[in-house]
Amino acid sequence: MLEEVTLTNFKSHRSTELYLDSSRLHALVGKNSSGKTSILQALHCLSRLSSSEFKNVFGYERSPDFLATVGQDNVSAIVKGFWGYGNNRKGWTASYNFRRDNHKWEPEASWKLDQEKGSTKGWYQSLSEAPYPIPAALKYAVYLKLVAAKLAEAAYSESVTPRVEYDGSMLAPTLDYLRSETPDQFRRLQEMLKRIVPGVREVGIRRAKVKVTRQRLIEIDGKSISYDENQEIAGQEVVVDMNTGDRIPAHSISEGTMLTLGLLTFLVNPNQPNLILLDDVEQGLHPEAQRELVSVFKEIIQANSNLQIIFSTHSPYIVDELSPSQVHVLSNTNSGFTCCKRLDEHPDVEWATQALTTGEFWDAEGEDWVIAGETHD
Ligand SMILES: Nc1ncnc2c1ncn2[C@@H]1O[C@H](COP(=O)(O)OP(=O)(O)OP(=O)(O)O)[C@@H](O)[C@H]1O
Ligand SMILES: [Mg+2]
Repeated sequence: MLEEVTLTNFKSHRSTELYLDSSRLHALVGKNSSGKTSILQALHCLSRLSSSEFKNVFGYERSPDFLATVGQDNVSAIVKGFWGYGNNRKGWTASYNFRRDNHKWEPEASWKLDQEKGSTKGWYQSLSEAPYPIPAALKYAVYLKLVAAKLAEAAYSESVTPRVEYDGSMLAPTLDYLRSETPDQFRRLQEMLKRIVPGVREVGIRRAKVKVTRQRLIEIDGKSISYDENQEIAGQEVVVDMNTGDRIPAHSISEGTMLTLGLLTFLVNPNQPNLILLDDVEQGLHPEAQRELVSVFKEIIQANSNLQIIFSTHSPYIVDELSPSQVHVLSNTNSGFTCCKRLDEHPDVEWATQALTTGEFWDAEGEDWVIAGETHD
């Protein structure tokens, strides 16, 4: 479980601290470009570093050239958390940072266990070398940016336990796996989907043709030449019985329905991640469906003591279902850098919680109060 996040010179975050309450469900709100996605990205990088090497995690658009605030020579993310409950609870801190030295970025990972004195600091290939429970606590995090068109694609999987990819591909094989291996979970998923999108009757999976490209080798005059061969093979696609008709193929199902189905498939999967990072969680959903989605989140969190969900949203309907301590409000200072406070830090919170819903409170107060009195511009 993550408890504290500190970002330094991470894009628009010159110095941002987040204190996550014990609810395990946390919202990031704020105007466009206020730094919500960047927080999810920083956390996802840390998680990936628990099983992958620096060079694989921080490539291309995630290179420190782009992550470090323009003009700065260092960038870092520090996360404090714990693993286990009661007597088994172990506190830990894990971080990465890059320092620019002679135009070259030097990466460093560090970690610390609460019970032990001192910290281990230095250049490590990845956080997988950190002591238990740090890799376990960080390893199963997923950053979802579901795309309805990807969820609707017919797909084929060679994996014994297929999983929906971060963009939503592989939905049909994953659902097929859930239906045959964990039928109770599959039924639960359907019930939750029906609560959020009441027109849904039943979710099905049927066989469908999938185009795959395979690499082939031929030998000509003793030389191996590789070429791509397009093939059609049998895979699967999702079909949904709706109140308007049965067996409607996924590509004709509404976007909000497919996005919800994809998200729920992640949430009920027996190989569920520990930390789910969700960007723009309400995309495509009606206000009532948004409210229902948060109550589904709460139920799933209740049933899974290791699951934590951090999401960004622009919706007061989503925020309405949360308490002020679950809402992190981001605002930009005059020079554009991010400031962040929890809604329960607002000076009028006591009065507001008696008179207003959390969404109404945020709507009425906006974000400017977050930077009132801030002088570090
Ligand atoms: N290297 C950098 N240095 C300084 N600022 C940066 C850097 N990279 C990105 N930014 C700033 O951070 C912003 C990106 O923020 P982010 O994507 O986290 O916003 P968001 O709150 O998710 O917005 P939205 O609601 O539009 O999705 C950019 O618009 C830019 O202003
Ligand atoms: Mg964003």
